[in-house]
Amino acid sequence: MSIRSATEAYEKIPTVIFADSAKAARTLAEEVKSIIEARNRAGKAAVLGMATGSTPVPFYRELIRLHKEEGVSFKNVITFNLDEYYGLGADHPESYAKFMAEQLFDHIDIPKENINIPSGTVPGDQVFAHCRQYEEKIESVGGIDLQILGIGRTGHIGFNEPGSSRDSLTRRITLDRVTRQDAASDFRGEQNVPHFAITMGVGTILRAKKLVLMAWGENKAAMVAKAVEGPMTEVVSASFLQDHADARFFIDSGASRELTRIKLPWLVGPTSWTPRETRRAMVWQAFKTQRPVLKLVDEHYNENGLSDLLSEQGPAYQLNIRIFNQLQHTITGWPGGKPDEDDTYRPERARPYPKRCLVFSPEPQDAVVGMSGTIDRLVEQGHDVHLIALTSGSLRVPDSEAGKFAGTLLELASNTSRPDAWAPQVDYAREALALLEAKGEFGEDPPLLRQLKGLILRGELRDAAHTAGLADDRVTFLDLPFYEQGRYRRFKSTQADIDALSRLLTEYKPHQIYTTGDAADPSSVAGICFRLLVAALQACAGEEFAGSCSVWLYRGKERPLEPHEIDMAVPLSPLQLERKENALSRYGALSSLEKEAPEASRENARLYDALGLAEYEAIESFQRWRRA
Ligand code: F6R
Repeated sequence: MSIRSATEAYEKIPTVIFADSAKAARTLAEEVKSIIEARNRAGKAAVLGMATGSTPVPFYRELIRLHKEEGVSFKNVITFNLDEYYGLGADHPESYAKFMAEQLFDHIDIPKENINIPSGTVPGDQVFAHCRQYEEKIESVGGIDLQILGIGRTGHIGFNEPGSSRDSLTRRITLDRVTRQDAASDFRGEQNVPHFAITMGVGTILRAKKLVLMAWGENKAAMVAKAVEGPMTEVVSASFLQDHADARFFIDSGASRELTRIKLPWLVGPTSWTPRETRRAMVWQAFKTQRPVLKLVDEHYNENGLSDLLSEQGPAYQLNIRIFNQLQHTITGWPGGKPDEDDTYRPERARPYPKRCLVFSPEPQDAVVGMSGTIDRLVEQGHDVHLIALTSGSLRVPDSEAGKFAGTLLELASNTSRPDAWAPQVDYAREALALLEAKGEFGEDPPLLRQLKGLILRGELRDAAHTAGLADDRVTFLDLPFYEQGRYRRFKSTQADIDALSRLLTEYKPHQIYTTGDAADPSSVAGICFRLLVAALQACAGEEFAGSCSVWLYRGKERPLEPHEIDMAVPLSPLQLERKENALSRYGALSSLEKEAPEASRENARLYDALGLAEYEAIESFQRWRRA
């Protein structure tokens, strides 16, 4: 069997893996341009199916560029959007109608009457008729030429949550809990996310002539693999794309991670046994056979398709010991390096000691979620640790929190024996309360409210940092401009962000950096911050510190590192884990995933134990960043 057909044996939908989302967006936008031109040459309108969410944002930016710079016209294009939150009017800041206007329609020459989006405000007794008309309208223009799709963590396309049938049509549905959790930051809390939506059905989507589903970042990897390789099932509505003659997946390398050709390449074809692939295969084999690495024998290698690895690098006994040692050497209680010790097999170099360590937290909670136990150790071991909150995180703070603080201030400032001295505070609190009232629940926060919300999070982070041994002067708030001027799923970074980071790096001259976001959705705050840091490091490349500074990647909200990916495993004692739980409890609004961080570090320890390495209470794990 050739490698291509071996891949096809697993992948039931043609899947293209791009180096990054920008490249995929460019390819897709070119395709759209060709469709528009071909349809227009035939004297017909091109009909495009549109999606919302963070995934299509780079693609829409590329369409806007094609319009502005290359003169592509959308005058003869008709669009149909997949879905809309039920209960939100077109002017609601989180409605998909508003999203589309801001992200695409206001920047191209599409006539307003050519835009179709389900209505979120149609009265309950007219929903059925509205949905039927939507279907009829799609049919009346000859069907959709190309439908753009994203995929949710429930495997949904449109808002077809698990349970949606292959032939379902446009209808009102109830949103899954996971989908509502994923939208929580847009709506400042899960409690504000609508419960219902109107969505095209799976059957509606499958009637499009061509379909392209895009997915970025590791958090999409599991669902992408289920949809592409798993059985066709109502549990994962994207899997029904297997039933379409012209459906494709455009994904980035993060979202490809769970595909068999990437995860278990030896099952698909000849493998080049790099150290990383060897480690991956050994760890996989140990878990599959439920044996520690040192107890694997020839039969296990042969039965698990690894006989070529064995013949290349065996005998088993020696290969086992080599990999066991590699894994064992990832474990260190000295994340900053152990001074005056032989560091040949240690993840971090011994000198210089103490080190200047910068811990970057894209949003104020990320570093505490991902590595507060390690911060604890670094501080205890005498390093000069600075925690840098890259963004204020203010968009996550619900109005109720801001109202609570402003109310407390007002009460305090009004009940004083020196009313004159407190007058400015009374004014401030009154203004904050009036602004909250005026903007409504989801209105844009004016600068004063953004500032107040940011200050609330500063307090939480300082409080959490204390439990990891960091004093106030060790916590810096950078408030990167891209965040202060943007909204979730639509941030746009600029040179000003890179400059702010470069200045900070040149000022601190770190020996060690901890950061996250390399595996995140590129349009998420963590994803943007990671790319900004890489750009800032490049900008500082000429500086002496940049050449020798080590960069360690931790995981915040993203899928935890698997044992074969870990380059440094920092054990936590039961007491340190308790301190981590305590630090996390200082945050008012953590997502359920973030709350699970201590359990994730316990699970790391269980996996290391199962590999036969050592039995710890918990482990925080890191990957060494390898410069491209
Ligand atoms: C949006 C839609 C959804 C999203 C999916 C992924 O119109 O239909 O299926 O594509 O929820 O959302 P993001 O792109 O925000 O990860």
